[in-house]
Amino acid sequence: SGDYRHSQVVAAIDQGTTSTRCLLFSRTGRMLAVAQREHRQHYPEPGRVEHDAEEIWRNVARVVPEALKRAGLGPENIAALGIANQRETTVIWNRHTGVPLARAITWQDTRTGPIVAELVEAGLTDLYSRTSGFTPATYFAGPRLRWLLDHVPGAREGAEAGDVLFGTMESWLIWRLTGGVHVTDVSNASRTMMMDLRTLEWSPKLLEALDVPERMLPEIRSNAEVYGVCTEVLPGVPVAGALGDQQAALVGQTCFAPGEVKCTYGTGAFLLKNTGPRIAGSAQGLIPTVGYLIGDEPVYALEGSIAVTGSLVQWFRDSLGMIGTAAQIETLAMTVPDNGGCYVVPAFSGLYAPHWQATARGVIVGLTGYITRGHLARAVLEATAWQTREVVEAMNAESGIPVTRLKVDGGMTADHLLMQYVADVLDVPVERPLGSEAVSLGAAYVAGLAVGHWSDLEVLRANWHRAALWRPDMPAEVRDRERANWGRAVDRSYDWVV
Ligand code: G3P
Repeated sequence: SGDYRHSQVVAAIDQGTTSTRCLLFSRTGRMLAVAQREHRQHYPEPGRVEHDAEEIWRNVARVVPEALKRAGLGPENIAALGIANQRETTVIWNRHTGVPLARAITWQDTRTGPIVAELVEAGLTDLYSRTSGFTPATYFAGPRLRWLLDHVPGAREGAEAGDVLFGTMESWLIWRLTGGVHVTDVSNASRTMMMDLRTLEWSPKLLEALDVPERMLPEIRSNAEVYGVCTEVLPGVPVAGALGDQQAALVGQTCFAPGEVKCTYGTGAFLLKNTGPRIAGSAQGLIPTVGYLIGDEPVYALEGSIAVTGSLVQWFRDSLGMIGTAAQIETLAMTVPDNGGCYVVPAFSGLYAPHWQATARGVIVGLTGYITRGHLARAVLEATAWQTREVVEAMNAESGIPVTRLKVDGGMTADHLLMQYVADVLDVPVERPLGSEAVSLGAAYVAGLAVGHWSDLEVLRANWHRAALWRPDMPAEVRDRERANWGRAVDRSYDWVV
């Protein structure tokens, strides 16, 4: 470990849906150490998923020193800290005590259905499309903030008096790390339903529509700049970058040219295409979003968000007990040659892109006595591939320019059977870089750029090396037949909640 002690390294915190990690990166983008802790998922009722923001903060305070210790480094070796985070998860806290007023409401939580319906009924859909870039949905943070203001005792009065602050997870962590710097970044802000996608400022009209007091909101900043200096955890180290985790992966995968696409397979899967200075349309059920702002000119992205992919495997493991570890799903799936006619549509949070069906719920169809655990395992994996395909179809329709290759990252990319199936159903090559840690790497990159540790994007591009490639290998008639069956299965998941 001694060979990199004399050169500075960059630290990244990846505050994800199920865990919080700290990774340290060398100048060539090599991961030097990692430490990780899971936090509890609270499911108080169907459709609700909450996190304890204080627990997440405690995990940050543990994983950072653990990672440093593993690398044999101290805060003095860290050039900068960058943060990537699960997006849209919403927390409010007391400015004086730092204590959250309630559990954070996560991005998978659908309780804001009635608030979203109200906005639509009030005829605000067009305003939202024009300003935030997309139409209201339970996915985004703003309605959650409204819900907290309406339901948590003291929240609204506190916010109006300037005592209660709002943030998504990066904002919460920066505030704690720096002892009170209250900022967010453009990528996270673009997921709130409160920011104007063109001006990159909070939109007074959208705040009014949600009845949110502006003084509780963080200041919106670029992705790569020094927001403040750590007073806790990494004393003296500048917090110099933040990105929503999916935008972080776009940067980590060095998708810097318009048309470049990446898909990150984590709890959910999120496919983002760089659209350069262009704000794409949302007509195909995709979300125009800020890709990143490094310097003065924003780079936009078009996103296909899939709520449930890795979490379906976890459910298969933990709730059904079909496997002991997530990795065993591949072995189980290989006990059978195909899905046996069975399809699983994991509409646990309704369906996100491209359907946006809040009232859809999960279905398993095609069951016969022939179906074994192996077939179910296959159907579980295939669900991730077909959901990816639906998003790619929508992307292609939006621009008329087909996706011709896909860069992937995230935990599920360790599953070769799945990645081959993704290549097969997309009919394009799928490739993975060395190290599948694109999220953390992207956070490190923006922080390192901000402090001059890396000079420019071209230097980062040179760090990208392909480690795995899956070429499509499925007869067209099989692909077409399975695509049609998947479509019929999805139809059956619609309109379940009445
Ligand atoms: O929009 C939600 C997304 O940011 C969550 O990502 O990797 O924690 O599932 P992940």
